[in-house]
Amino acid sequence: MLITNIGELTTNVPSGDDRLGTVTDAAVVIEGERIAWVGAAADAPKHAEVLDARGRAVIPGFVDSHAHLVFAGDRADEFEARMSGVPYAAGGIRRTVAATRAASDDALRRNLRRLVDECARQGTTTIEVKTGYGLTVHDEARAARLAAEVTPEVTFLGAHVVPTEYAEAREDYLDLVTGPMLRAVAPHAKYIDVFCETGAFSPAEARRVLAAGIEHGLVPRLHGNQLGPGEGVQVAVQMGAASVDHCTYLSEDDVAALAGSHTVATLLPGVEFSTRSPYPDARRLLDAGATVAIASDCNPGSCFTSSMPLMVALAVREMRMTPSEAVWAATAGGARALRRDDIGAIATGMRADLVVLDAPTRVHLAYRPGVPMIDSVYKDGVRIA
Ligand code: NIG
Ligand code: FE
Repeated sequence: MLITNIGELTTNVPSGDDRLGTVTDAAVVIEGERIAWVGAAADAPKHAEVLDARGRAVIPGFVDSHAHLVFAGDRADEFEARMSGVPYAAGGIRRTVAATRAASDDALRRNLRRLVDECARQGTTTIEVKTGYGLTVHDEARAARLAAEVTPEVTFLGAHVVPTEYAEAREDYLDLVTGPMLRAVAPHAKYIDVFCETGAFSPAEARRVLAAGIEHGLVPRLHGNQLGPGEGVQVAVQMGAASVDHCTYLSEDDVAALAGSHTVATLLPGVEFSTRSPYPDARRLLDAGATVAIASDCNPGSCFTSSMPLMVALAVREMRMTPSEAVWAATAGGARALRRDDIGAIATGMRADLVVLDAPTRVHLAYRPGVPMIDSVYKDGVRIA
């Protein structure tokens, strides 16, 4: 298929000073699952199947590198209480754990698929999905199996919180997570994650969990520095994590450590929005030279939105990113956070994952917040929305 008359094409293939490799009056050829040609519309090869973009902008599909989509129930009551002044506490996770354990495979699968479709309609072509609401060997393995039905980007988050039944035996729970639970989940997962925060797991516990995952061939990532300053970022960098996520409270040393590492700083502005918390300053990270991604963190507690366009708008308005930086972070940045080199850019040989915006430029994603901006979405060359 030839997509022609693209008013503004964001390739994410750097060209001179333009990190987003913008091409105006562009065309793209898709053959099967891959991009076969990119260039000026005037030079495009002839093709039997032609889509006229009529001056619209095209960007790579969003890569949402952080989401918790295997769960049952919602916590709208908790959100409502929060908006009347009750602070967010990670303890709510245990409510979702109870509801998830009680749900059938089919109920979990239906909710998961509904959310993945919701993401697709908003331009997300790759999504990472975490376990973390099962917290038994059976329920974590089940969550990973279900997640693997919808994405290859599955993360084992048995170390989300210590479940109620282990409240007086956290060492035993850590033995379980790093032993039998890990062995049951690892065949279905690519990454291991841990929530390193007061009220969840300590830095030493986080190291132990990630080391066990690495031994089983999983790539480490970490939830850290969300509710306050802490050692999460340093643990993530020391363990060679693909990404450290939240990064709401960062010291100068944290910023320097991220800038000098291959660990992506993944910012989740929907969480600050939905918990009415102060936003991190992305400018600080970008100016220091760190790689920044933005993701939804879609989950029933701290942030129940799947909208990457909203994340772009929040990153621009609240975290001092430029619109171009935010679009890069939501596409190429997410791909880096997942260590994928076949997505996040529109170039020959890459997967044909792209979004036609109902707008002339990518800036409109932030310029027109809350307005549906997605015209059509292609994943592996197939229209999915
Ligand atoms: O990424 N921080 C830890 N976990 C989730 C919240 C999960 C929940 O509240 O259910 C997060 O924000
Ligand atoms: Fe999360």
